[in-house]
Amino acid sequence: LYLGLDLGTSAVKLLLMDEKGEVLKTVSKSYSVHYLNQIWAEQNPNDWWNAVSEGIKTIFSDIDSSSLKGISLSGQMHGLVMLDENDEVIRPAILWCDQRTEEECNYLNNEIGKDKLSKWTGNIVLTGFTAPKVLWVKNNEPENFDKIRKIMLPKDYIVYKLSGKFSTDVSDASGTVFFDVENREWSQEMIDVLGIKKEWLPRVYESYEAVGEITHEVAEVFGIPNNVVVVAGAGDQAAGAIGIGAVREGIALVALGTSGVVFSSTENYHVDEKNSLHSFAHANGKWHQMGVMLSAGASLKWWIESVNETQFYQSYLEEAEKIPVGSEKLYYLPYLMGERTPHNDIYAKGCFIGLNITHKKAHMTRAVLEGVAYGLKDSLELLREIGVKVNRVRVSGGGTKSRLWRQIIADVFNAKVETIQSNEGSAYGAAILASVGTGLFDTVDEACNTLIKVKEEVTPNTEDVKKYEQTYPKFKRLYTSLKENFL
Ligand code: XUL
Repeated sequence: LYLGLDLGTSAVKLLLMDEKGEVLKTVSKSYSVHYLNQIWAEQNPNDWWNAVSEGIKTIFSDIDSSSLKGISLSGQMHGLVMLDENDEVIRPAILWCDQRTEEECNYLNNEIGKDKLSKWTGNIVLTGFTAPKVLWVKNNEPENFDKIRKIMLPKDYIVYKLSGKFSTDVSDASGTVFFDVENREWSQEMIDVLGIKKEWLPRVYESYEAVGEITHEVAEVFGIPNNVVVVAGAGDQAAGAIGIGAVREGIALVALGTSGVVFSSTENYHVDEKNSLHSFAHANGKWHQMGVMLSAGASLKWWIESVNETQFYQSYLEEAEKIPVGSEKLYYLPYLMGERTPHNDIYAKGCFIGLNITHKKAHMTRAVLEGVAYGLKDSLELLREIGVKVNRVRVSGGGTKSRLWRQIIADVFNAKVETIQSNEGSAYGAAILASVGTGLFDTVDEACNTLIKVKEEVTPNTEDVKKYEQTYPKFKRLYTSLKENFL
């Protein structure tokens, strides 16, 4: 048996997989995010550990753990966890969705310079990333900065608790922006800029490498075998990509959760001209490029639940299906919480543009679905610009339950859209990493090719592809024309 753990923002999901890739059981344990104000978001790492502990107990409450071979993790990325000389958490973790670091980002991107950051790490900094958070602590809480002896990412805290090994993996380390993604090692230049000491940073593993075994104490407390191996794991997006088999160029992942992601594995290291895509190490030993939209599923949720004050998604989606492609010239910009790719603009806003007197609610629903698809296409175009060929996408996340949304994505992207059988996301990817790290498969790619099966395919409709080729450039122009109004 292999245990995959996905340490998310609202809950930890645990998934038990057997040698054939069958999912035997999943368990979820939630915890809260502490929003100290509109832009500060923190969590207590001990809450994560308590939830993980509860989860492990629950998952083995009715399943014999004696054949458990390995555990691996997927985790919310970019969060800053700091431990002192006694291995105590110094302050709550500052999360990926926390936006307090605008000043630090301006310093790093503009004074140190985007060119240098991109050369050293493959990326520039965004407010959610780890590097500006370290600088924020240094500038605002010097007493806490002085106590730092270990810096880690959220899932690595759990790895440390389970195995006593101070480790991270290449994909999660990429999201710190003090990691040299091309050479898969910490960036000495960047850690000097941030005032970090090298010994505060964990040893970096490939995502599928074993970091050690669980401690005797953990084995005893949870009643699981002593020699269970802990495998390094991955950031949630890379793990999610493993979980649906996005391990080679040509198969991109589109994740439609609260946020939206367009992700492709690449054979070689790439950086796009404006650093609009995140250029990170992949969990299969290669690299990946990824564009992140902040309000994808969140846009639909906002429209249905907050604006229309209902939960009846189905009837809204059925009505939207009757509206012609292009929503009769109505456009929606999905920037409800600013945007990462391609605009990197925390001030960007959501809008409906082009309303006329004949438009009904159903037009607006369809415009939301189309606006999100256009926004994701912005990332797809960036991938195509750096030479990644995408003719198939695999989708994951709640939003992909809607066949209409999948069809819109197929038509806007002009690509086949596939769903897969075990749609369990990042936790499944983590379980796969555990199976590779303990020797069931030689490589991650082999594991994915063996275990992952396509369930349903939606093909693009030629007529509608042509229509969207006319409307997409119009969508693209809207942000540029409106940008000044968002400030
Ligand atoms: C990736 C990202 C999110 C977080 C939270 O860049 O910010 O995927 O990891 O899920």
